[in-house]
Amino acid sequence: MPSSVIVGAQWGDEGKGKVIDIFAAKADYIVRYQGGNNAGHTVVIGDDSFILHLIPSGILHKKKICVIGNGVVIDPRALLEEIEMLKGRGIKVDGRLFISEEAHVILPYHKLLDELKEQKKKKIGTTKKGIGPCYADKVARSGIRIIDLLEEDTLRDKLRANLEEKNSVLAKTYGADGFEFISVYNEYLDYGRKIKKYICNTKRLLNDAIDAKKRVLFEGAQGTLLDVDYGTYPFVTSSNSSAGGASTGTGVGPNKIDKVIGVVKAYTTRVGEGPFPTEFDDLLMDKIRQKGKEFGATTGRPRRCGWFDSVVVRHSVMVNGLDELVVTKLDVLDELDTIKICTGYRFGDKVYDDFPSSIKVLTGCRPVYEELPGWLKDTSGITDYSRLPVNAKKYLKRMQYLLNTKIVLISVGSKRSQTFSKGV
Ligand code: GDP
Ligand code: IMO
Ligand code: MG
Repeated sequence: MPSSVIVGAQWGDEGKGKVIDIFAAKADYIVRYQGGNNAGHTVVIGDDSFILHLIPSGILHKKKICVIGNGVVIDPRALLEEIEMLKGRGIKVDGRLFISEEAHVILPYHKLLDELKEQKKKKIGTTKKGIGPCYADKVARSGIRIIDLLEEDTLRDKLRANLEEKNSVLAKTYGADGFEFISVYNEYLDYGRKIKKYICNTKRLLNDAIDAKKRVLFEGAQGTLLDVDYGTYPFVTSSNSSAGGASTGTGVGPNKIDKVIGVVKAYTTRVGEGPFPTEFDDLLMDKIRQKGKEFGATTGRPRRCGWFDSVVVRHSVMVNGLDELVVTKLDVLDELDTIKICTGYRFGDKVYDDFPSSIKVLTGCRPVYEELPGWLKDTSGITDYSRLPVNAKKYLKRMQYLLNTKIVLISVGSKRSQTFSKGV
């Protein structure tokens, strides 16, 4: 594994944190390339549970180098809080964390605009962390970058211009109070002073590492169906969470990435608004939500749950170029008599087996299911593929067949020990 990308192949929360933690043991560098503190990656080590929002999950492994690439948007206050949380729990951060000079900065007006937009009837269901407005400024070429926090005059000029525009929008469109220049300026200069020691040219750092044959693991956040291009637009996040983002979000050429691994839940979940063809009815929703503890790691919101959707994951296999799959949360299906897998969508007289782009089709379609018998056995203590119940093996084999991609690892609980490899 010289360099690999790990991406969520559904709508996020597939268990990437756990999987990154396992793969990180064999990596030298772990790198976030997109998103921001909208992510919530859970890693359980013994009796300790950590939720990482911005810092790569590899930070929990001593001596690994962690990088926040240029494609990430950074809320400096959230970053400093996370650093403090880790230090408070005995994790060394200084000398191991490096932040791109070119990453964009989330400012207070981004968060407020995110919140205000979400009060509209037609909302996205965002995490309200300011992610969308920050990426919008990046693309509009008015964003403030991490390097700007270190240059008093650059920050002053950019912030003044931005505040003039944002305060006007806040007042005129939303009737909201704006922000005072001097307090935001001083606050962000102070953040710059505090995070200066972590800031560097991460493109150089990573390319030199790859040239020196170091192993680099790219940690995707969100999931492919939340990707701004390949997801259920507009019900998506504002970055390229798919594998391509690993290159643009770090400055590492695509030819230097050797492998792309997709993480899939054995069923499907999504948080926030947007189409979800295989969503459960209320009864099953409640059962799986409780058993799978499906509540957001960032916002605490209940996650919507549904059957495994092979149309969704086939789409992910294609747009990410997935080489291998890791299946998580198989144990959550232990108590079901029968299990459904969606193999296509029916809309009018058409059957789609390619993921449709139209939100109208996705909202109105009826999933085509096949049914498999459940295994009705507790799998959470299994540590060897050969000991899985026959019907659990059949389920995984069917999944693998429909996705035409090799399953290499299976997870049956949140702990490191509840993971085993397989040759289905
Ligand atoms: P991420 O955003 O993809 O890193 O996933 P989250 O951390 O938001 O959500 C995954 C949740 O499932 C976390 O609470 C994990 O501890 C938990 N988890 C991961 N793998 C398994 C598994 O195989 N079985 C069960 N029951 N829980 C798991
Ligand atoms: P991890 O990395 C699940 C969802 C939000 C909303 C949409 C847009 O833990 O898998 P945003 O705040 O990004 O503008 O919200 O994206 N979302 C996630 N859903 N897991 C995540 O991250 C998510 N990050 C954003 O719920 O629907
Ligand atoms: Mg999460």
